[in-house]
Amino acid sequence: MFAIAAVSENWGIGKDNQLLFHISADMKRFRQLTLGKTVLMGRKTLQSMPGGKGLPDRRNIVLTGSTAFTAPDAEIVNTPVQAVFTAGEDAAVIGGESVYRLFLPLCERVYITKIFAVRDADAFFPDLDADPRWQVESESEVFEENGLRYQFVDYVPCEAENDLADLLPDRGESLPFVPMPDFTEMSGI
Ligand SMILES: NC(=O)c1ccc[n+]([C@@H]2O[C@H](COP(=O)([O-])OP(=O)(O)OC[C@H]3O[C@@H](n4cnc5c(N)ncnc54)[C@H](OP(=O)(O)O)[C@@H]3O)[C@@H](O)[C@H]2O)c1
Repeated sequence: MFAIAAVSENWGIGKDNQLLFHISADMKRFRQLTLGKTVLMGRKTLQSMPGGKGLPDRRNIVLTGSTAFTAPDAEIVNTPVQAVFTAGEDAAVIGGESVYRLFLPLCERVYITKIFAVRDADAFFPDLDADPRWQVESESEVFEENGLRYQFVDYVPCEAENDLADLLPDRGESLPFVPMPDFTEMSGI
């Protein structure tokens, strides 16, 4: 699993369920990194997208507590555990704040676009620079678009592996029941 986000200088990611910045090179990179993949998002992020529908040419998984929620071009999951099993280990976590916080412990990489500006925000990505569990693996040169300076920074965990058991507490469900195969039958006994 990996996460991808665009953050302000103080790790702000959104305000009033909208993005803080529009940088076309960042959108292009987001598209390149997620195209053909499974993307996992929260219900609010889905509803912030044009038409409130899933992204084209990607498998869209949306986390909501509501069992009645439906959306075009999206599969709905109701718990973080169901999200992990449905999305699979190659999925891209694409926000927003609550979903980043839930699945960050499972991510093997985080693609951050750092924008060197501050905007009023009500949603934030965890500050990876202040978190000893994460380290910078690579950073691009600083680019500029419409007066905004930005940089692509890739983070990887300091520990070799994250564990499913690190998933933050969910809303009280247990792991799905998987019946054991009948080995007697398989061995022909
Ligand atoms: N800068 C970026 O890269 C970027 C990317 C994506 C989003 N954003 C921004 O992030 C902001 C939205 O973030 P957000 O945290 O408010 O919303 P969000 O994470 O997109 O969605 C929150 C919703 O997800 C569902 N959810 C979360 N945890 C759950 C759980 N444990 N079990 C079941 N459902 C759960 C709930 O849906 P229900 O209420 O339906 O139960 C919850 O209200 C927006 O401003 C958006 O523009 C920024």
